[in-house]
Amino acid sequence: MCYIWQSFSTSPRGLRFTWQMWFNLPMPKYTMTISRLTVDKLGVKLYDRVSAVIAEIIANSYDADATEVTVRAPMGEMLATKSKGVIADRGYVIEVEDNGVGMTAEEVNEFYLKVGKERRNDPRQGDLSKTYKRRVMGRKGVGKLAPFGVCEKIEVITAGGDPCEYTGAKGVKKTGYLRCHLVLERRAILNETDEPYYPPIGSLDGTYCPKKGTIIRMTIFDYRHVPAMLDFERQMAQKFGLQSAKWKIVLQDVNKKPSQRDYKCSVGAFQIEANKATKIIFSRKAKAKEDSRKPTDYTVTGPPKIGLGGLLPGFEHEGRFYPIIGWVGYAPKPYKDELMAGIRIYCRGKIAAQTKLFDLTAGFTGEHDVRSYLIGELHAGWLDESEDLIRTDRQDILWSHDLGQSFEKWGQSLVKLLGKITREPMRVSAWEKFQEESKIEEKVEAAFPGKDNKEIREQTMEMAETIARAARKDELEDPQTVECFVQLSLLLGPHITLDRKLKQAAGSKDRPMAVVSEVLKTARIAELASFGRIVDDRVRVIETIETLKDDKTTQEAELQKLLTEAPWLINPAWSPITANQPFESLRSEFIKFYKTRTKKDLVLHDFSDSKKRADFVLSSQDNTIQIIEIKRPHHKLINVEMERIVRYYDLMKEFLKEEGNEEFAKKFPNYHITLVCDKIGLSGSARAAFDGYKATNALTHINWKTFLLRTVQAHQEFLNEAKRQRKMSGGKP
Ligand SMILES: Nc1ncnc2c1ncn2[C@@H]1O[C@H](COP(=O)(O)OP(=O)(O)O)[C@@H](O)[C@H]1O
Ligand SMILES: [Mg+2]
Repeated sequence: MCYIWQSFSTSPRGLRFTWQMWFNLPMPKYTMTISRLTVDKLGVKLYDRVSAVIAEIIANSYDADATEVTVRAPMGEMLATKSKGVIADRGYVIEVEDNGVGMTAEEVNEFYLKVGKERRNDPRQGDLSKTYKRRVMGRKGVGKLAPFGVCEKIEVITAGGDPCEYTGAKGVKKTGYLRCHLVLERRAILNETDEPYYPPIGSLDGTYCPKKGTIIRMTIFDYRHVPAMLDFERQMAQKFGLQSAKWKIVLQDVNKKPSQRDYKCSVGAFQIEANKATKIIFSRKAKAKEDSRKPTDYTVTGPPKIGLGGLLPGFEHEGRFYPIIGWVGYAPKPYKDELMAGIRIYCRGKIAAQTKLFDLTAGFTGEHDVRSYLIGELHAGWLDESEDLIRTDRQDILWSHDLGQSFEKWGQSLVKLLGKITREPMRVSAWEKFQEESKIEEKVEAAFPGKDNKEIREQTMEMAETIARAARKDELEDPQTVECFVQLSLLLGPHITLDRKLKQAAGSKDRPMAVVSEVLKTARIAELASFGRIVDDRVRVIETIETLKDDKTTQEAELQKLLTEAPWLINPAWSPITANQPFESLRSEFIKFYKTRTKKDLVLHDFSDSKKRADFVLSSQDNTIQIIEIKRPHHKLINVEMERIVRYYDLMKEFLKEEGNEEFAKKFPNYHITLVCDKIGLSGSARAAFDGYKATNALTHINWKTFLLRTVQAHQEFLNEAKRQRKMSGGKP
């Protein structure tokens, strides 16, 4: 058996020379010689990446109607070492095996060993694959040489043609396929000569195997890297944007045992999803032919309520229509990953180019969003047909070509349009994103269960949507803020429903009791939601204090400020009443009174400087004036501090008794001291005063531990009760 390698020989030049010499015929007058070196110029060097090489071989398997291709390679490894400029192969073998139609020796010679033969023009091969009628990816007849971009030796082991009978081991008769095994060496092929090349025959040549298929085996590598398994998988998925029941690529790591993780992996579909609400979809009508060039056979649909400004599903060039199918849209999050960002352009299911902006110059509306979020997958089957616009190594399209320019112009108008419609879709996306991140639907369902609460649920969801759409992007990225929005919606939903029910009740004339009971029920849920919210907030504040309390640097001033804003910490029944005019004037009058008596300034509520400590917190609850003294955790109260408290107390008593202050005394008949302090270190008269106040209930002393425990308990009980009641109000689902 002999294999002849011929450069650009659709005519069997090499053979003719032999016959001419054999039969002693005159040589032709003119001879055109094409060097095998041309092979190199065809662009083999462009294939310098292992993944691009493998993709080319896989493309051949696809064209050969394979349903499964297995790539065996050392994943994540360097294929050679390099030291002082000397490259040394590491002995690795990379194999691509398919279960396609394979080749007979004749087919090897006629198809495989002919360089630059365009299969689509050959009636024996054509544009469609034999069995599955796939539109073939092969074009220029050079793909098989791609491995020479990374290695020295390619072996082809292939079995095809018709089945034949052969005698297997122990004389058993079997049916199978005759194998061809040949070796191609880069050094011999990329030689400056026009002589035919006779590839050496491999050891398996002439043997049989039970199934058809092809193995391409590569050895003796340059200094190249094989991507790690997962990267490889994604790269293959991106390169072959198609996936079907009859097409599967499996990657296998030769360095791993079957029991190890990542030993094998099957290439999935390349999954990037645009927000549905931002998608522009180009499609071919169901009844239209796959290669139809009728503009009316194609459609474009955009997001609802968005004008497409005359955008067509393709473009016109020199009187011909070039259709495009696929989609573009905004990704839910920006992709930093080059494989995913931008628009991927496919031709016959294999990637031809990836572009961000179709080379649109900067400075258009929505540019930032387009740059960070635009994704898409467009299919243009015509890219390599009458005019071949795809670079040999399929890394890009020849945009400078006339047709390329028209395509680019169309692409630019698409990008511009997307830039303009960006804002609206991003808001929609905010809501989609919020729903996903927050699990709002589940939470609303849990908070207001049952069919009776349907309206509240709807109102709450509507509220959440309004909030989410108005939110900034960074807010929606922060889980705490998102949760805060959820809580706010849960709080407002019932109130809005109540408001609506009240309006309905005012307008309805019949069955007043039914309407009222409905209103009351909603009011109760609204109330519970509000209380629940208040208590939730309070529990959070308590948690903050717990950390503050253990922090050594915590100032008393900070604790005082906290108490003024959250007096319920002292007593859960106390509420922060901000606008209480009589008490405000009592406070300022008392400060004046204090100054005349002691010649000293009393600081009661100046929190503008957080380092500055107020003398104490003066608050009023239930017509009682509250003098609250809070000391740092672990602080021991000493005599002078107690004496100061006594002075405040006495002066307050005097102040209320003073002539002209009867109004105050009437409004606030009682006064009381609360002391939050961990230890008491008093002696003498100070101790006596302390004990005396306690005995008459003029003073309440609590330490930090009880103080916090008491508040947490009171609030936790409330929370549990609110939860229970909310559940009860749901009725039966
Ligand atoms: N895995 C394979 N199985 C069967 N035939 C193959 C395989 N790989 C290559 N061939 C044959 O070799 C030819 C040349 O392949 P190639 O150089 O990639 O050019 P093209 O794919 O453009 O035709 C193919 O057209 C096909 O007939
Ligand atoms: Mg090919």
